[in-house]
Amino acid sequence: MSVLPGRRAVVTGAASGIGAATSRRFARDGASLALVDRNADGVARVADEIRSAGATAVPVPADLAKAADVDRAIEESVRGLGGIDILVNCAGVGQHPKPMEETDEAEFDLLFSVNVRSVFLMIRAALPHLAQSSEAVIVNIASNISIRPRPGYAAYTASKGAVASLTRSLALELAPRNIRVVALCPAASDTPMLVEFMGGQNTTESRAAIAEAIPMGRLVQPDEVAAVAAWAASEDARMVTGELISVDGGRGL
Ligand SMILES: NC(=O)c1ccc[n+]([C@@H]2O[C@H](COP(=O)([O-])OP(=O)(O)OC[C@H]3O[C@@H](n4cnc5c(N)ncnc54)[C@H](O)[C@@H]3O)[C@@H](O)[C@H]2O)c1
Repeated sequence: MSVLPGRRAVVTGAASGIGAATSRRFARDGASLALVDRNADGVARVADEIRSAGATAVPVPADLAKAADVDRAIEESVRGLGGIDILVNCAGVGQHPKPMEETDEAEFDLLFSVNVRSVFLMIRAALPHLAQSSEAVIVNIASNISIRPRPGYAAYTASKGAVASLTRSLALELAPRNIRVVALCPAASDTPMLVEFMGGQNTTESRAAIAEAIPMGRLVQPDEVAAVAAWAASEDARMVTGELISVDGGRGL
């Protein structure tokens, strides 16, 4: 059954990992997509794949760390789709584990400009369009680390904590306008970003060590986050807003 029939969705970070899986899932669920990412080849590839399965997908290459690119991404998305019902803010950057005194300002600024500022700017630019939708939803991809921090990831954790707070704050602010805002909080997920969290080491041992910390004993798969995103964006979740929804195999407990 299509849970997102005719819905127009903008997904950032759509070239890879959770964003690509969410785009494919939304297309299967009946949505048309604008795929935003700084990786132009990547979004073109995912868009081709979705179009060859018969759905609408508009690739929108953009570096969301740049405010001008954010505005252009929203303009191109609206031009391609005719409006916006759903915004999924998934683009993000990770970090290697390290003591906080080894995190320099440039890394901190990059983490905040992509993981926080671009989310704020995307929502601000999309709001006039979301306000015209009768079923508007914003899905932010935060992290399990927003709920349960661990040592070595201070700057990334702070950025995802900000996404969680922004979600709850905007859910209250936008509820009277019937715009829902939720955040998904995945635990370690099997995507290219995981290699960052493992300090650049993609070995069987490093993956097993991370998986062991998850009570269900394995990494989260991107399509498992995408399935929850589809539900959260659907009419079935019409009374759900301001929630930080864990997709973490029990890691937050
Ligand atoms: N992988 C994990 O373990 C994990 C866990 C919890 C939350 N998350 C979050 O999930 C989201 C998706 O991450 P992923 O794991 O799929 O990683 P990923 O690296 O596979 O995908 C991230 C995407 O964001 C894009 N991106 C990065 N900077 C950008 C910019 N300035 N402008 C436009 N696009 C940009 C990249 O090009 C890439 O396609 C991120 O917000 C991440 O923080 C990941």
